[in-house]
Amino acid sequence: MAKTIEELIPDYLRGLPVYVPGKPIEEVERELKIHAVKLASNENPLGPSPKGMEAARKVLNDSNRYPDGGTLRLREKIAALHEVSPDEIFIGLGSSELIDLAARVLLGPGTIGLTSEGTYPPFSTAIRANGGAVEHVPMCAFAYDLPEMAHAITNTTRILYLANPNNPTGTAFGGEDFERFLSHVASDTLVVLDEAYIHYAERPDMPQSVELFRERKNLLILRTFSKVYGMAGMRIGYGIGAAALVSAMNKLRTPFNVSGVAQAAALAALDDHEHVKQCIEANRAERRRITEEVARLGLKPVKSETNFVFVEAGPEAKAICEEWLREGVIVRPLGWMGFPEAIRISVGTKEENDKLFVALGRVLAKRKGKPELTAR
Ligand SMILES: Cc1ncc(COP(=O)(O)O)c(C=O)c1O
Repeated sequence: MAKTIEELIPDYLRGLPVYVPGKPIEEVERELKIHAVKLASNENPLGPSPKGMEAARKVLNDSNRYPDGGTLRLREKIAALHEVSPDEIFIGLGSSELIDLAARVLLGPGTIGLTSEGTYPPFSTAIRANGGAVEHVPMCAFAYDLPEMAHAITNTTRILYLANPNNPTGTAFGGEDFERFLSHVASDTLVVLDEAYIHYAERPDMPQSVELFRERKNLLILRTFSKVYGMAGMRIGYGIGAAALVSAMNKLRTPFNVSGVAQAAALAALDDHEHVKQCIEANRAERRRITEEVARLGLKPVKSETNFVFVEAGPEAKAICEEWLREGVIVRPLGWMGFPEAIRISVGTKEENDKLFVALGRVLAKRKGKPELTAR
């Protein structure tokens, strides 16, 4: 008998996990009949770049036309910003598209993709979905163990994924450690350095990634407009990589991958220095408040270089998140990312964070009074 379509799906695809997005706020509000605060997807709580939105509105009426499929103006602008060639810039449908395309170019049966445990799940998905075997190196104190990752590289390792700063732990590695690590990576292994949260990093010794790219072309740096520029819904990001790699990724991408509206918004957002500065400053102040307040309430935050805080909450982390949700605050339990005892809190506005603290205080007080909940 002929096979069904379901039976034709390859085994490596059946085994792939589904990406679990944060709960949509409307769903929670409808279910619980409350006004909710969403602090679960590391979005920018101050909104999109106003300059970006103004530019987007201006081109909205051109939507009957296809956009510039080669994203020339934006590539030229980004190239000038980083002092690289426009041929070394790839504009993607979010940086997510680049995570996948890099693996599509380089992986196949018999190849290995390496990443860390406790990092952004789409890295592993990209490796496995493109026929490679994935290897995970354990973390050390919620940070990448770069020396161990260097040890794990073999001559079949074609691609390495690193997020710096990392999601979900919020930690970052410095330039010296990264350069030492790179000295162990041969020219036939691509290092994908995902810098989605780079604007929020405070440690003074962050790697000078673009300088390093100029010296070694087996580096692909990923940036996004989803975080500090506040345009996650526009779906636009970019990569800085070797012209040959960019050219190969261009052959695989869907034509017109990035809308004209998103391109116009990104072009203008790059000049919105005031918005970027405000977002970084507000994030720094509120991140500190969250870190201090959750510690005061008895949980254990990890120092963050991002727009979220990773918090150790013990075996009841998931139950705490569920009760927090009933109080109208959506945060992310991290069991699905390999941390069953941790919670990730995205930094919100001052008002949202105030609500977060009041709700957490209530949840923890209630739990103290209800020992039966701790048995769950
Ligand atoms: C480490 C990391 N890389 C990439 C992305 C995806 O970003 P984009 O919206 O540009 O696809 C995220 C999103 O949260 C992320 O945390």
